Parts: sequence; C-alpha cells; structure tokens
Amino acid sequence: MHSFLVLALISFVSIIGASTPEQVHISLGEDATSMVVTWVTFHATPPPIIQYGPTQSMTYKHVGHTDVFESSDHTRYVHTGTLPSLSPNTVYYYKVGTADGWSKQFQFKTFPAGNDFKFRVCVFGDLGYHHGNSIPDLMKAADNEWFDMIIHVGDIAYDLDATDDDGHNIGDKYMRELEPVFSRYPYMVIAGNHENDHKNFSHFHHRFRMPGEVGGHHNNQYYSYNVGPAHFFGVSTEYYGYKNEYGTAPILSQYNWLNNDLQKANTNRASRPWIIGYQHRPFYCSNTHCPVDEEPFIRIGEGNIPGLEPVYIKNKIDLQFWGHMHSYERFYPIANMFPQDNGQSSYTYHNAAAPAYVITGSAGCHTPKTPFGTPHPGSVFRYSTIINFAHLTHTVLGLMIMDIQL
Ligand SMILES: [Fe+2]
Repeated sequence: MHSFLVLALISFVSIIGASTPEQVHISLGEDATSMVVTWVTFHATPPPIIQYGPTQSMTYKHVGHTDVFESSDHTRYVHTGTLPSLSPNTVYYYKVGTADGWSKQFQFKTFPAGNDFKFRVCVFGDLGYHHGNSIPDLMKAADNEWFDMIIHVGDIAYDLDATDDDGHNIGDKYMRELEPVFSRYPYMVIAGNHENDHKNFSHFHHRFRMPGEVGGHHNNQYYSYNVGPAHFFGVSTEYYGYKNEYGTAPILSQYNWLNNDLQKANTNRASRPWIIGYQHRPFYCSNTHCPVDEEPFIRIGEGNIPGLEPVYIKNKIDLQFWGHMHSYERFYPIANMFPQDNGQSSYTYHNAAAPAYVITGSAGCHTPKTPFGTPHPGSVFRYSTIINFAHLTHTVLGLMIMDIQL
C-alpha cells in the first residue's frame, strides 16, 4: 500500500512536470510589432496561453497553437503564439502555459519604431551543449544587455536530436540551459549540417519558428525580416550539402525566393540601407580542412542548379555571416574568389561591389582548435583558438557582437 502511494505520487509529479512549460524562447515575427513565443511540454495540454503586457500584471492574453512533434525518443508538444501589435521600445512581461502548469515570468524588450535606430546583434555558430565554451559569456552578455537579438548560424547543441550519455536528449538540455537568454532576446537560427537528422531536419523544423511560411506551413530554412535600418535574410546551405538526400527542388525554391526577396530589399535602400545575410557553410575560408569540394557548388552552382554568390553580388548585399569552420575569419569584400579592393583604399567597404564575409563559428563545441593553412585572397584577419570573450562592438572570438546603425 505504501509503495503504491509512493508510485502514485511519483507518477502524479511526473505528469505535472511534463505539462510544465520548458525551453521557452522568443523569435522575431513578420515585423517589429510582433514577437513569437515558443515552448515545449511533454504532455498534451489545453490550448496554450501567453499572458503578457507592459506591466508585471500581464493583463493581455493570447491563445497560441500546438504542434505535436513525434521523435524517436519522445512526443514533444511545441506550443507557439505570435504576440501582435506590440508597442515599440517597450519592455513586455510574459508567462506561458495553461491550468496544467505555468512557466515563471519572463520579459523582453521590443525594438524602437521606424528605421533609424542603432541596435546590437550577437552572432555565432557551432555552439554545443557540451564544450559550449562561450555559454558563460553569452549568459553574462545577456544579463548585461550587451545585445538586442541573437543570430545562430547553424550547428546547434551538437545535436538537437542526439541522446546524451545519461539517456536524455541533448537538444532539450541545450534549450533548457539557455532559456534565460533565449526567452529574453530573439533567437534567430538557420540550419547547419548538424541539424540534418535524416528526417528532413525534424528537430530543427519543429523546435524553432522563424518569420514566413511556405505552402501554409512555417518555414525556418530560408526567410527574411527587417530590423530598423537592416534587412536580414537567412538561407540554407544544407539544401546544397544534402542534395542527394533531399533532391534539387528545395534549392530551386529557395533560389527563386532569394532572388525576389533581395531584389525587393535592394530597391528599398533609401529607407533601409543594410542588407545582411547568414548561412551555415562558407564560400571562402583558409582552414586546412576547408571543404573545397562543396564550396564551389554552393557558391556558383553546377549545371542547371544555381549557386548563391551571383545573387548576393547582383543585389549588393553588404555583409554575410557564416559558421561551419570552428574559427573566426573576416574577409574584405570579395567576389568570384578575389577581393575587390583588398584594403588598398579607405573606401574598401564603402558601397563595395561585393559582400564582406565573416566566419564566426567558434562559439564552442567538441573540436578544440581549427588550424589555418595559406590565407585565402582577401582574408583580413583570422583566429583559430576557441576562447570565451565578447566585446561590445566586435570580437574576433566565440561571440561576435556587432553594432548596426545608419
Ligand atoms: Fe557545420
């Protein structure tokens, strides 16, 4: 009888625990007046609710929707809601859940109105739950409000779908550990090769919401959004990397979308002067294990499959971030393998004829160091050791925090 009671109690507690929201994170919506809130439970719940408002009494209520994600280890209930018509430059308090269990209170701050303001972005790639050397600095930078949003350029948690030595999922652990950061600052992500779980990126697809839809479904493989003076776009290099697994159709769909999106952004320079992109795999790098076989395919295509670089050059994108190489490397504006100016004039970056590129893939993971070989033409600066360090304006190391202003 006694053991029955204990078992019943344990079972009751686990049911309550499984309905408690966890892995709460936010991402930017279609425009600056909306914010997307996403979280996970391990049991089905009544319709998910976000209670929010500009005061701690959180008087607004938004009912979201639930996506049931069946994976090999668990059924996860991924709840999402988009908070609409938010006031600019305002701190919002929020909590998520249902009568079955509520989260604690979180907060985020919306961007100012209009296009003419300065903001900071923290950009990094290749961050693991294990050996995630930059995580303490990321937490510290978040606590100190050193940035306003985050871009993770692929290879997340190592891996979202992997099982740890203790039998628990690594993606869940990573999202739990970083909840204090990702619940406060929009966490914008793009898929890297480690997100390919050979089930059409199922963990990446179900866990993260990015702006935009394809065919009525959320799409986080390629998308764009605007923040103040900058138009951001993220694209998948994994469509190229895994062409044999998923076919050429995703590459072509993405390419058509990208052409239209960048053309539109390029005609809107007067009010939004910056076009900034991110993707996982680089076009150029100087590491000894640079994937020289795959780069040309992603960069310039092959046969009737178009590459990405001509679209970037044609639409004069200003800057793009890459990961995949576990190091930092920055390039002068570079096109078709060669730098346009190579720092010879003081106008190297001014209305450059090609994009400048930055590899920032050293946030910390299982590989300790990425050695360099002969510098690629146009390589300005490179740093291979993975060190925890963040600086207010830019850094050469794990986290790169960048000011963007007109
Ligand atoms: Fe990678």
